[in-house]
Amino acid sequence: MVSGRAWRVARFGAPETAIELQEITWPDPAPGQVLVKVRTAGAGYPDAMMTAGQFPLLGEPPFGLGEEAAGEVVAVPPGSRFAVGDQVTGITAFLEGWGGYAEYAYLGEVSTIRIPADMTDEQAGGFPIGFRTAYAGLVERAPVEAGQTLLILGAAGSSGATAIQLGKALGATVIAVAGSAEKLEFCARYGADHGINYRTDDLPARVVEITNGRGVDVIYDPVGGETAATAMNSLARNGRIALIGLAAGAPVALNSMDLMLRNQTAVGVLSIPQDDPQAEAAVWERLADLAARGAITTPVGRVYDFEDVPRMVANQTSPGAGKTVVRVATA
Ligand SMILES: NC(=O)c1ccc[n+]([C@@H]2O[C@H](COP(=O)([O-])OP(=O)(O)OC[C@H]3O[C@@H](n4cnc5c(N)ncnc54)[C@H](OP(=O)(O)O)[C@@H]3O)[C@@H](O)[C@H]2O)c1
Repeated sequence: MVSGRAWRVARFGAPETAIELQEITWPDPAPGQVLVKVRTAGAGYPDAMMTAGQFPLLGEPPFGLGEEAAGEVVAVPPGSRFAVGDQVTGITAFLEGWGGYAEYAYLGEVSTIRIPADMTDEQAGGFPIGFRTAYAGLVERAPVEAGQTLLILGAAGSSGATAIQLGKALGATVIAVAGSAEKLEFCARYGADHGINYRTDDLPARVVEITNGRGVDVIYDPVGGETAATAMNSLARNGRIALIGLAAGAPVALNSMDLMLRNQTAVGVLSIPQDDPQAEAAVWERLADLAARGAITTPVGRVYDFEDVPRMVANQTSPGAGKTVVRVATA
C-alpha cells in the first residue's frame, strides 16, 4: 500500500472547480494489474468530456482522471508477468476510478508494455491510447491494407497523428486533413504523403486530384460533423469509414442509402481490450515492436507540469498539434 497525491474529479463542471488534488492511498494491485510510480501521463479530449460529465463509460464522481501513464512498477500481484523495477507504459484503471494524473497508478497488465529502449518518458506516457485506438481502427476494424489510400480527419490531433504513423507502417498512402498550414506541416513530419486544409481547400476536389478520381479506401474519423460528411463524398466504392470520435461536437450523419448504393461500410471503433487476453497481449507486442523499430513514435505536443492539470484539461477543447502529456515526476 502507498499514499500520494492524485488529481480527481470531485464533481462535474468546469475543470478549475471540478478537479481537485487529493491525498489518497493505493492498496496493493489486484490480479491483472500492476501499480506504478508515475513519471508521465498522456492526456486528451476525453479528459474534458469526463470532467464535464459527458463521457458515456463513467459514472458519478469522485473518480481519478488520466487514461494512460508511464513509470516504474512498484508492486505486482502473485504470478504477474511484470516485476518491481520494470519501466512500463499502459492504460490505467480509469474506468474503475483510478487515473494517471497521480503519483501512483494502476495499469491493466494486458494493456501494458515495457518501454522500448529509445522511447522518452513523454513519448511513453502518450503512447498507449492513441496507438491502441489507431490499431483498433486500422487493423481490427476498417481495416486498411498496403497500397490503399487512407484519409485521416483531425490528422494533427492526438488520435489523427498516431493514425498517420500506423497507416504508413501498414503501407498505406496517407492524406492528412487539418485546419492550418502549421498543422499540415506537423502531419508531414509524422509521415503524411499529402495534406488538405479543410478550412481553405476544396476537400473532394483535392482527393480527386490525389487519387486520380478513384477516391479513398478508408476514412479515419475522430472529428465527425460537417467535415466528415464532406469527406464521405470522397470515399471510394467498397470503401470503409472508421468512426472514432466527435471532436467537431457531433458524430458524422451517415446516409445509409449512399452506403448501400456504393457498397460502403461504416465501422464503430472503441479502443477497449479484446476478450481474449492472449490476443490483446499480441496487439501490444506488435505495437511495442513497431515503436522499438522506430516505425511509430508518439507525436508529443504540449507538455504540462503536474500542478497544471486543471488548466491542461481546460485546454483540451483546443490543444494544438500532437499528443498532450503531463510530467508527473522526474526519474
Ligand atoms: N473510439 C475511441 O476508442 C477513441 C479513443 C481516443 C479518442 N477518441 C475520440 O476521438 C476524438 C478526438 O480526440 P483527440 O484526442 O484526437 O482530440 P484532439 O487531439 O483535440 O484532435 C482533434 C482534432 O480535430 C480537429 N477538429 C476539431 N474540430 C474540427 C472540425 N469541426 N472539423 C475538422 N477538424 C476538426 C482539430 O484540429 P483542426 O480543426 O485545427 O485541424 C484537432 O486537431 C474525441 O471525440 C475522442 O473522444 C475515441
